[in-house]
Formats: sequence, structure tokens, C-alpha cells
Amino acid sequence: MTENQPLILIVDDNSINIDLLLNILKGEYRFGIAKNGAKALAYLDRNKPDLVLLDVMMPEIDGFEVCTKIKADPLHKDVEVIFITALSDAKYIAKGFEIGAVDYITKPFKSAEVKARVQTHMSLKKMKQALNDQNIILEDQVQNKTTELQEMFNATVGGMALMAESRDPYTAGHQHRVAQYASDIARNMKLPDDQVEAIRISGLLHDIGKIRTPVSLLNRPGKLFTAEWELIKTHPVVGYKILKQIPFPWPIAEIVYQHHERINGTGYPRGLKGDEILLEARILAVADVIEAISSHRPYRPALPIESALDEVKSQKGKLFDEMVVDSFLSASGRITPKMPADAEPVRIEPAEETEMSPAEHSIRRIHARN
Ligand SMILES: [Fe+2]
Repeated sequence: MTENQPLILIVDDNSINIDLLLNILKGEYRFGIAKNGAKALAYLDRNKPDLVLLDVMMPEIDGFEVCTKIKADPLHKDVEVIFITALSDAKYIAKGFEIGAVDYITKPFKSAEVKARVQTHMSLKKMKQALNDQNIILEDQVQNKTTELQEMFNATVGGMALMAESRDPYTAGHQHRVAQYASDIARNMKLPDDQVEAIRISGLLHDIGKIRTPVSLLNRPGKLFTAEWELIKTHPVVGYKILKQIPFPWPIAEIVYQHHERINGTGYPRGLKGDEILLEARILAVADVIEAISSHRPYRPALPIESALDEVKSQKGKLFDEMVVDSFLSASGRITPKMPADAEPVRIEPAEETEMSPAEHSIRRIHARN
């Protein structure tokens, strides 16, 4: 007898029956013996048999109750149970299967039948175990592959963001910070994790269309001619065209397309209004302007966070979605933008419209240029 042989627990209050079964099955298995239900359950607490051959009619705890308890216990529910009993009425046989037994043998039984049925169930159990083991291996492999792909995806998106930003050192980190603020606002709005992730990815890539904007325009201090503004304003469309090629599980290209649209229809490129603009893009718009106002640009200095807060408050319901602004304001303590380490205020260009303060003027320009 070896440890590798399957273990069978024989439960019967009649020693003659136990000896009979031992005699039939000897050689191929190891055995445990219990002469009543309580002892059977106690045996299961210490051992893990592959199969239980269970008598039904026993004093105190009968076989049906033992089987019910085995199947209700998460530690033992996988142990297979075969009833061996003199109760041959169909209703008892049905009950035996109902409470979880895999087989029901009636007495008097034939040796060959018991041997064959036990062997069949042992083989089935082995196959089930092999299948489970295989499933665990496959699940591990899928999990590892998924993690690998997720890391590769994040690195690719990060690389794309960096590629766009590397052309303009003044906006380095802009997209990462926008992604951070936008996902913080989205989480504060209690949006589902999947939607928050879509917003984060859109934030990381929202200005990728600037890859086609001449560097000389991106970081040039001073006024831009109308034609130059128009060129900068093509970046949402360019971003859309680049991103729509990628089969993201979210509408990233469309969100990026809409990130300069404004609630009152004064945004670009399509002048969408209100709910025509995706919620993700409305969130991105607020995060984008907050980050832009509080960061240094070659054509204006970084402005204090109060300017950003005032701006979104004053434009709530006009340029920006009310719900998104409220969410940002209620969480602004937690998602206050951080000034870039190298932020250095520079000369402010004269305002184009004289009634505006330099700060107001800068903010107006941010909506178009950022
Ligand atoms: Fe933009």
C-alpha cells in the first residue's frame, strides 16, 4: 500500500459489510473505517479521502445526514459519496442523488459491480482533477499574459504621450497631469472604473495631434497670427485621425476630438453643445484648463491656482459642464494642480483686448491655444 493509492472511507455500522467491501476492493486502495456518522465526520476533519462508501441506515446520524453535511462543508464538498444501502426504493435513490451522491448501490450487491463503479468514479475524479489543474495553469498563463499586455499598453500610451510632448519642453508632463486631474474628477463623480480608465487614457493622449503643429508655434512667446491659431486648432482633428486607427475598448479618438468643445457651443472644431459632447470630453476640458492655467507657458507665466478655480467657477454652465465643475471644486483640495519644478514666470504679452487684465487675457488664450 502506498501513499499514492486513492483513499476510500467506508462508513457502515455493520462489521460484516465493512469486511466484505474491504475484501472486494483490497489491493488498489487505502482505507479508512468509520462505524457511525459522527465518526465518519470526525475522520473527514483529519483526512481527505477520495471517495466515501456510505451506508444509509445507521443509528443517530444516518447516511443522508452525513452526506448533506459533507456537501455543505466547503472543505469536504468535493469528496465523492457513493451510497451502499439496503434501501432500494426509488424515492431513497432519488434522495441520495439529490443531496449530492455520485452513485447509489443497493444491497445485496455483486462484487464486480461495486469494483467497477468505484473504479469508474475514481477515474472520473482523476480526470476532473487533471482538468482543474489544467484550468489553474491556463488561468495563471492568461493572468500573466494580461498583466504583460497591460504593462505594454501603458508603456505604449506613455511613449505616445511623450512623443507629442518631447517636441515642446514647455508642456512636458501636461498630458500626464491632465490625465491625473481628469481621472480624479471622474472618480469623485463616482464614475465606473472602466470609464475612469478611458478618461485617464484620453488625458494622456489628448494633445497628440500637436505632433503635426510646427514646434515654432508651440513654444513661441508672443502673439500668433490668425492663420497660426487656426493651425494650432487643428490638433483635436489630427489627434482623432491618429487615434481612430487604434482599437481601444473606449471611444478615445472621439473624446480627444471633443476636448476643446465647450458647453455653450463656442468650442472647436465642431461647435458641439451640452450633451452633444461626451461626458469624458467635458471632464477633460475642465482638467485641461486647470492644468494649463496653473502651468508655465512660454507666452505667459504660471498663474495661481485661485485663477484656475475662479475661471472654472465663472465659466460653469457656459464653457464647462456644471456637474464636472462642481465635482472638481468639491475635490479641489485633493486634486490641486502641482506647479512644475521649472516654472518661471515670464513676460506677459500685452493684452489683445485692453479691458482685460493680463491674467484674464492669458486665460482667454488658454482656451484656444492649450
Ligand atoms: Fe488641446
